[in-house]
Amino acid sequence: MVARVMTDRYAVVGHPVAHSQSPFIHARFAEQTGQDMTYEALLAPLDDFAGTVRGFFGAGGRGVNVTVPFKLEAYELVDRVGGWAERAGAVNTIAVQADGTLLGENTDGIGLERDLTANLQVRIAERRLLVLGAGGAVRGILEPLLRSEPRELVIANRTVARAELLRDLFSDLGPVQACGLDALAGRDFDVILNGTSASLAGEIPPLPPGLFAPGAVAYDLFYAPRPTAFMRWSLEQGAARVFDGLGMLVEQAAESFFMWRGVRPETGPVIAALRAKLVGG
Ligand code: ATR
Repeated sequence: MVARVMTDRYAVVGHPVAHSQSPFIHARFAEQTGQDMTYEALLAPLDDFAGTVRGFFGAGGRGVNVTVPFKLEAYELVDRVGGWAERAGAVNTIAVQADGTLLGENTDGIGLERDLTANLQVRIAERRLLVLGAGGAVRGILEPLLRSEPRELVIANRTVARAELLRDLFSDLGPVQACGLDALAGRDFDVILNGTSASLAGEIPPLPPGLFAPGAVAYDLFYAPRPTAFMRWSLEQGAARVFDGLGMLVEQAAESFFMWRGVRPETGPVIAALRAKLVGG
């Protein structure tokens, strides 16, 4: 019998997907850890995410990352979900198991938690956290944040009902509150995370002044070659340190890589390489 030796294939599936940095990140991880694998960008038609993914696995694919707008469909597609995905209601990583079934997990939240605590030395425990927005991006990060035991976590959103829905879904994990953006007037926080998609349009949500306590940190879940509008506004408002979500992107990728390959890549050099690539255009 002739043994088949095939390079394992992985991909990020999205629409659009050409802008994704995941192929760059996973190529660096594979190089660094000596893993024999390829990682490509796969554009799925908006109406055929499932067919695209099944086609890729049918042709020997071993796993995929899932990006906008398919994370909810990915949750429906898999046979089994891990704990983070269960809470997030969304899947960003699929791994083909030995028996051919599909396991879905969500590594966004743990990616954020690692970036904050391991890379940036931002303490969450006992701190007062404000999370802006109540969409899918925010839902994906609440569990690891709450498990880090903040003193309080306030979800503030333009549409209050969406913030309240998330509060109700996560209140068993810690002290979560929900409110509208106006209701923030007069309060201050140690860590403020922006999960609104306003960033994508170069805007910031309408926020009252005075939200940053002395020494406070601002973190935008989105990233860009230059400081985002939210980062600039936060500095003007007196934030002591401001960050974008590039480290979170690399950390969530590292967790996916670990799920697939059982090896943990070193993220620091890859964060630096990706930053240099973005800034260099
Ligand atoms: P995602 O899955 O990327 O989080 P989403 O589910 O569409 O996307 O959520 C986008 C979030 O950004 C929501 O919290 C949205 O507020 P609403 O729930 O009120 O729509 C918020 N958002 C988008 N643009 C905003 C803006 N200009 N000002 C304030 N909030 C904004």
